[in-house]
Amino acid sequence: MAEAFQPDQLATDKAGRYRDLAVEIAAVLDGEPDLTARMATVSSMLRAAFAHFFWVGFYVVDRTRTEELVVGPYQGTLGCLRIAFTRGVCGAAARERRTVVVEDVDAFPGHIACDSRSRSEIVVPVLGPDGDLLAVLDVDAETPGAFDAVDALGLETIVAQTFAR
Ligand code: SME
Repeated sequence: MAEAFQPDQLATDKAGRYRDLAVEIAAVLDGEPDLTARMATVSSMLRAAFAHFFWVGFYVVDRTRTEELVVGPYQGTLGCLRIAFTRGVCGAAARERRTVVVEDVDAFPGHIACDSRSRSEIVVPVLGPDGDLLAVLDVDAETPGAFDAVDALGLETIVAQTFAR
């Protein structure tokens, strides 16, 4: 077991914080193959590291349905349970397999408001070792424009190291 996670000891600049967090997450998850445990741990540690992450968690591809996501481990207020690939920011990221940054949720056609306090959002596709889509990672904030290219790179790096190998 790794030492206790101390978010206040992470770098204070955003890029450095993502770098430090990636190291901490890898240490905590070392040797743990269970995907639910990995997603729950990533959600918890991201939420602890970034105070403005109002909602952070995973929507997992439901293999028993056609192109549909079902809510997975998350931290925050009540999330919607299911999202079709045709809907919302999560659906767009799943369909297009690319990170989607939404500076203002009101300006994104089809945005799904699970909680009306959410003002901006980033969704990163989660690929497995074979390149198959496992899930998407969704992070919401209560302020507009909370996410940028540094968040995209930081989250993509954590997701790749945690789920793609
Ligand atoms: N806003 C997302 C739905 C998920 S919640 O934000 C937790 C979307 O439009 O896909």
